[in-house]
Amino acid sequence: MAGASLAIAPLGPVMAAGVRGLDLSIPLDDATFAAVCRALHDHQVLVFRDQDFDETAHVAFSRRFGVLQAHVLNQYQHRANPEILFLTNVLPDGTLRGEHPDPGSMIWHTDASWSARRALATTLLAVTLPKAGGDTLFANMYAAHDGLAPALRARLAGLRAVHSLDHSRRLSGAREQMTEAQKRAAPPVEHEILRTHPDTGRTAIYLGEHASHIAGMAEDEGRALVQRVNAHATQPAYRYIHRWSPGDFVMWDNRCVLHSATDFDWRNDRRTMRRTTILGERIGEA
Ligand code: OGA
Ligand code: MN
Repeated sequence: MAGASLAIAPLGPVMAAGVRGLDLSIPLDDATFAAVCRALHDHQVLVFRDQDFDETAHVAFSRRFGVLQAHVLNQYQHRANPEILFLTNVLPDGTLRGEHPDPGSMIWHTDASWSARRALATTLLAVTLPKAGGDTLFANMYAAHDGLAPALRARLAGLRAVHSLDHSRRLSGAREQMTEAQKRAAPPVEHEILRTHPDTGRTAIYLGEHASHIAGMAEDEGRALVQRVNAHATQPAYRYIHRWSPGDFVMWDNRCVLHSATDFDWRNDRRTMRRTTILGERIGEA
């Protein structure tokens, strides 16, 4: 049985847990799936070690949690399967692209907050890792919420931030900016800054750098407030840093976690990650 020897151990004081004893190339039975869901709710970031499974198994595992996204930045999509993204600085002919695999991932964000149908969770499998750097930083938005000064928390209650992929793409300085068609497919959206997690009932800060300003507030005032809350929310005390090892498969809960990739020597070194993005508010939603 896939989950017979499932072992879940916290990775540090803030969040994240290592999961051992699972071979994700084999479909999860219902009890194991329920245990993984519980672990995700308890630890926000799960690190499955020593994994090796193909795209079909990757998609099948991800689909247990919900509907998968086909990303609007279609240059990252896998040709044969739009539910898989490859984040890589390696071109199809094997040469290097001369840019970070996704400059937009090096700012603090939560996946697809720029969309009305936002991401529930994201999964990443390490395919090729650079010799140094290329870590992923995570910040716990429950802890960040609980650490807000009461006056600031009261000020944020009921406020909605405007999220836009075009905004954060510009901010990231990515060489390839959005096409007009991509912009039309992903217009700005609003989300509440204090979010009740639909599965745990806990309150989290839901912001990050896809957020540009605040609905109903002067743009520069809103921008300053977004920046202030993001700085609070991503301070080192709320972080778990994932330093990748070969075979690592990481899943995180975008409803209560911000994340950011760190840089590496993409001029000379290679990094390829295989990703799926699970959409929706609650696990198991159609
Ligand atoms: C992502 C992302 C981080 C990384 O895939 O959504 O932000 O470290 N990736 O590649
Ligand atoms: Mn991301």
